[in-house]
Parts: sequence; C-alpha cells; structure tokens
Amino acid sequence: MAATAGGNKIRNAKLVLLGDVGAGKSSLVLRFVKGQFVEFQESTIGAAFFSQTLAVNDETVKFEIWDTAGQERYHSLAPMYYRGAAAAIVVYDITNAASFTRAKKWVQELQAQGNSNTIVALAGNKADLLDTRQVSADEAKAYAQENGLFFMETSAKTATNVNDVFYEIAKKLLQGQQVQNPQGGMVLNQRPPERMVRGGGEECCRIL
Ligand code: GTP
Ligand code: MG
Repeated sequence: MAATAGGNKIRNAKLVLLGDVGAGKSSLVLRFVKGQFVEFQESTIGAAFFSQTLAVNDETVKFEIWDTAGQERYHSLAPMYYRGAAAAIVVYDITNAASFTRAKKWVQELQAQGNSNTIVALAGNKADLLDTRQVSADEAKAYAQENGLFFMETSAKTATNVNDVFYEIAKKLLQGQQVQNPQGGMVLNQRPPERMVRGGGEECCRIL
C-alpha cells in the first residue's frame, strides 16, 4: 500500500531471493542492507527477513526481503515467500554450473506457481571469481532474454551491481509493470522515474 512520509510516497514491495545453497543470497542481502560482506556466511535456516528502503526520485520503495534457505529440505517453504512477491531475485554462482541449473528450476517454479506480475531478476553472483567461472555471461543472458527476466552478474564481495539489481527492480516496480495485489504487491504508477541518487551523489540509488 502507498503511504506517505514527509511528502514522499512509500511503496512496500515484498521481494524474495531464491537459489541454490551457497549461491550468495544472504551475502547479497547483507551487502545491500548493511553494506557488509563476510567470507564465512552461515547457511540460512528456513528464511531470514530484512527490510531496506531505496529512494527513486521523489518516491521510496521499501523492500521487505525474504532471504530463503537454499537447502533442499526447505524447498517446501518457498511458496510462502514467493507468493504475493512483487519481485524475486533468482541467484546462482557463476563458478558453479549446477547452481545455474538450479536457478532455471526456480524460474520454472515461479513461472508455474508464482504470480505472473512478479518481476524476476537473475543474478549471476560471485562475479569476482572470474578464474573459476563455469557459466558464461552470454549463456545466462540468452536464457534470461528467452524467459523475460532481467539479468546481471553481481559480486556480494566487491559490491559490484548489488545495489543496481535492487535499483533496477525498484525502477521496474515504479514504472507500473506491477499492479496492486491483495497479498501486497506494488501500486500502479504511470510516471517513469528518471534516475536515482546515491547518498554520495553518485548516480545510482539512495539507500535510506
Ligand atoms: P544458503 O543460505 O545455504 O542457501 O546459501 P546462500 O545462497 O545464502 O549463500 P551465502 O550468502 O551464505 O554465501 C555462501 C558463501 O559464498 C559464503 O562463504 C560467502 O562468503 C560466499 N560468497 C557469497 N557471495 C560471494 C561473492 O560475491 N564472491 C565471493 N568470492 N564469495 C561469495
Ligand atoms: Mg543464506
């Protein structure tokens, strides 16, 4: 639902991260929400919740983030998190081909059982580990195009493209690709945002 704070519209958006064990879902969230990275991130149990707001021009998106557990034994919980989600980030590890196969399965599941309005991003994480790459960017990009996803390679470690993924999602949400749904999606907004301004004045995004 839209709310206002200091004249600024706030739009809540439920966002879910899905992907194989160890792909870097929690690390991406930790980077986005706290600006941190830890080498030995513990495997998630069940799911973890975070929230973070992004300002896009004079509007604010408040992401309500569900970081799911990649371990197979938690698979049956996933629908609770992706149902009603305004956006999903499906994460794989570019150094692990099996994680890309798993990511495709998540995309299939979202297409079959999720909300058709959900914006789906594909994130090829650990892009800092180029020497051990197993999944080419071209292959992932082609797959993303065929499936109507938007794609970025990210690194939670170096912060490459992490804010950008969330920013692109916020932009798409505000561009009105998403309509309000009873479980808490986004409100239709006709006016496309031009750009986001990061705290330091750099063009990107301002995390509040
Ligand atoms: P589950 O919770 O088990 O599903 O895993 P996850 O997808 O949340 O992965 P997590 O964030 O726990 O990351 C797994 C390991 O990969 C951790 O040791 C991280 O430090 C490491 N890692 C995550 N992202 C990156 C990255 O971008 N680059 C590098 N080099 N390592 C990363
Ligand atoms: Mg995790």
